[in-house]
Amino acid sequence: MPLFAKTNQPSERQVQQRVEKASSELLDAIAPASFVINPNFVQINELYVRTMFVYSYPRYLNSNWMSPVVNFDVVMDISMHIAPLDSRIFIGQMRKQQGKLESSRQIEQEKGFVRNPELDTAIGDIDTLREELQTGQQRIFKTGIYFTLYAKKLEDLNTLTDQIESSLGGLLVNTKQSIFQMEQGLNSTLPFGIDQLNISKNLDTNSLSTTFPFVSSTLTSNEGILYGINRHNNSLILFDRFKLENANMVVFAKSGAGKSYAVKLEALRSLMLGTDVIVIDPENEYKALSSAVGGSYFEMSLNSEKRINPFDLPKAAQGETGDIVLRTAVADLTGLIAIMVGGLSPEESAILDKAIYETYALRDITSDIRTHTNPSPLLQDLRNVLQNMSGAQSLVQRLTKYTDGSFAGLFNQPTNFELDRGFVGFSIRNLEEQLRPVGMYMILNYVWSKIRSELRKRILVIDEVWILMQYEDSARYVYSLAKRARKYYLGLTTISQDVEDVLNSQQGRAVLNNSSLQVLLKQSPTAVEKLTEVFNLTEGEKFLLLESNVGEGLFFAGTNHVAIQIVASYAEDQIITTDPAQLLAARQGEAAAGAPSQVISPGTPPQANAPSQIPPAQPPASTQAATPTPQSTSTPISSTAPNPPQATTSVPIQSAPAQAPATPNQTQPIPPIK
Ligand SMILES: Nc1ncnc2c1ncn2[C@@H]1O[C@H](COP(=O)(O)OP(=O)(O)O)[C@@H](O)[C@H]1O
Ligand SMILES: [Mg+2]
Repeated sequence: MPLFAKTNQPSERQVQQRVEKASSELLDAIAPASFVINPNFVQINELYVRTMFVYSYPRYLNSNWMSPVVNFDVVMDISMHIAPLDSRIFIGQMRKQQGKLESSRQIEQEKGFVRNPELDTAIGDIDTLREELQTGQQRIFKTGIYFTLYAKKLEDLNTLTDQIESSLGGLLVNTKQSIFQMEQGLNSTLPFGIDQLNISKNLDTNSLSTTFPFVSSTLTSNEGILYGINRHNNSLILFDRFKLENANMVVFAKSGAGKSYAVKLEALRSLMLGTDVIVIDPENEYKALSSAVGGSYFEMSLNSEKRINPFDLPKAAQGETGDIVLRTAVADLTGLIAIMVGGLSPEESAILDKAIYETYALRDITSDIRTHTNPSPLLQDLRNVLQNMSGAQSLVQRLTKYTDGSFAGLFNQPTNFELDRGFVGFSIRNLEEQLRPVGMYMILNYVWSKIRSELRKRILVIDEVWILMQYEDSARYVYSLAKRARKYYLGLTTISQDVEDVLNSQQGRAVLNNSSLQVLLKQSPTAVEKLTEVFNLTEGEKFLLLESNVGEGLFFAGTNHVAIQIVASYAEDQIITTDPAQLLAARQGEAAAGAPSQVISPGTPPQANAPSQIPPAQPPASTQAATPTPQSTSTPISSTAPNPPQATTSVPIQSAPAQAPATPNQTQPIPPIK
């Protein structure tokens, strides 16, 4: 028996040989068909490749000097090899160097020569640096910067080389080709973190910080949150919207392009930095986010227990008199009632105005601020007042539905909750479609009154804002919010799939003009024409918007615009996705585990009186003829989401700005270290 076993079983050596054979086959599969090393280029199949290195720097460099190269629209790998060195060695060397320079100076003086500024500068630089090294304010880094260029033709490669050389040469940063070391050059710029060229200069912390490549435009700042990846150069778009002229943002894209996803991601990241986020959510999309961050989530419906009384008066903001508070409240109420009753004639508007004042007066609420703590009247009270006024019959009739009829529960009760901190979501999905604009207006009004009475950093998101934009009164209200938001430390985010509706309305345009931050994701061909006109898009940008995948588009901040890709980490994606397949998988996972996970909570059970209820795992309810959500397109992005593309920089570069107190555009001296 052992004899058989021996012959059938492969020996250890055989196994190893097989494994080696298999792995060499794998290498064959991924290796290029040809690889020719020439003195000044490498040819990989049809591609010509050349590596260049920086061999000298000027005495002064502006921060961000690499940006022309980083933003150069060609295929290129840039590699930076940075290693800290022991400062003590340099301090000793520099002392000697300084001694030599000083003695030269003395000799020149003795000979009666005029002062030599070059010598003085060198001595001064060394002196400063020595002191800074000694006190630990600066460190010295061995730094190698290599560029590898790729082109399909040798002439193109030569042109490219000249372009890079001259663009850096203009800054007095001199480069050379790594002649006879092209292979080592290529290896040093591949993302392995190995430096085979080993051509480096010693830079101090300040000088090194100027090489930080991600300051390509104002879209990268030191503060704020990550919005996405700059598709031009793979740098990060880091931004604090509260640093802009105003903190408002508009998001336009066709349905399913990733608008809500982008905004949820921003909300999640802003919450981490202590910004409150309030969302008006027509699709129940923010619920999972709310439960993941421990926020409050109110589902408004005719049966819901949470009530808002539109007659509540806000606390007076600083500098506001009781008269202003009351007057604003009356104007806002008139707007709300106009939407409820389907518009007001000028006569009705005048009557209503008077009636509202009278209603407040009946509860002893006047322009005296001390009376504002009295219990607020209800819609019922207004109706009673109107009933006794001539010319208000039709108005009363149209209002009755909200006081006594089927909608009475929602609008005719005292407010019974407070706005919390952190995340607060208001869902209106269970509200009848005709009531949605009213519901949204009422919530906005409530939220706005809370915002004004306590100053905090907040973001207010109105998803599907076109619901409000279709009525003159609510559109005007949104505009007035956008205009006044900055004063109350509020960033208003408006999201819309209906670009034309919003842009054709005067108020919609005004909201846009009052939003410093604009995000455009995938557009339909009709919408893109309108946007091109409004945003002055180039042909390239137009094309980009038409061809975008989910989560891709243009990001405008003030006057800057870049192509953006919105990427979430795996954990973030789990919280904010609305991909039915993912939600279902999460739910099945929960069922298998036997306990509901905290992150993705199951949908609410259907309510009897909610005709617009749809099963939670469905694509967003289409309140208009929306194109179906292209779920399949979301898959490739989410699968790559945990690994956002990386620029091919070597490891320690991230730490440079942390140590360097350099501010952008500051000029940094390069010490004369040899
Ligand atoms: N940047 C992104 N990465 C991965 N998946 C995304 C991204 N943006 C959107 N999605 C997915 O695409 C689908 C539609 O996104 P959503 O934000 O609901 O679209 P919209 O609000 O524009 O209608 C969702 O399933 C969402 O999970
Ligand atoms: Mg959406």
